[in-house]
Amino acid sequence: MTEWFEQWFGEEYHALYPHRDEEDARRAVDLIRGVVRWSAGDRILDLACGPGRHAAALERLGGRVVGFDLSRAMLRRARERTRVGLVRGDMRALPFRDGSFALAVNLFTSFGYFLSDDEHRRVVHQVAAALASGGHFVLDYLNAELVRRTVQLSQEAEGRAGTDDRRTEVRVTRRIGQGGRFVIKEIELRDEGRRFEERVRLYSPDELAALLMDSGLHVVAQFGDYDGTRLGPDAPRVILVAARS
Ligand SMILES: C[S@@+](CC[C@H](N)C(=O)[O-])C[C@H]1O[C@@H](n2cnc3c(N)ncnc32)[C@H](O)[C@@H]1O
Repeated sequence: MTEWFEQWFGEEYHALYPHRDEEDARRAVDLIRGVVRWSAGDRILDLACGPGRHAAALERLGGRVVGFDLSRAMLRRARERTRVGLVRGDMRALPFRDGSFALAVNLFTSFGYFLSDDEHRRVVHQVAAALASGGHFVLDYLNAELVRRTVQLSQEAEGRAGTDDRRTEVRVTRRIGQGGRFVIKEIELRDEGRRFEERVRLYSPDELAALLMDSGLHVVAQFGDYDGTRLGPDAPRVILVAARS
């Protein structure tokens, strides 16, 4: 069975989220740089790098960046943007040597996509193993509490979709499902008669911290947005910086 994240992260996704741009990525990377130091020879993993906007920003600050992603379309975009190493694969089976990265980042809710918590645990476990001793992992996630409060049953929006930049009518519907554990977004490209689904596990900050702890990572800093906002119930993001013990 094809999973939702194998279908959705193609050109349509890219066209629908134009505001998630390089400026946004630069802010995220600046925030990380304020907490984590690395030197030019250090390896940095951008896990689920998408179109490479963070990988490009990290590379500009020095470090040998590797972008990892499942989507061929995203990796093609990343290649247009940056010369960093790019590897295609599934984050549930990372192909990297133990202890080989000084820093790993997973940004803009690129986690929580699987049905079982065991799969998520496996991902974090492998990331932790890929970090050198004293290495850091930055997880930038949705704020589950805020999502639960703000989900509207039917939200219609007009967006630009498609590879040729023409406008197409998009209907987005969000709901909480599967026993309250996931936020499920249905994206319908009406002109094309196509539908996609996005399904993300609603992990609270404490649950994320516990997942990290399970793999020997402890949280050393936390933020509620890329500008360094405090983490709280109304914060747009949950950004955890964890260190390998
Ligand atoms: C929300 S996008 C964010 C991309 C990028 N971090 C950014 O902020 O631009 C999530 C990314 O996760 C990737 N992805 C989804 N499932 C994956 C998996 N099982 N293994 C590796 N990458 C995956 C998608 O292809 C997509 O590029």
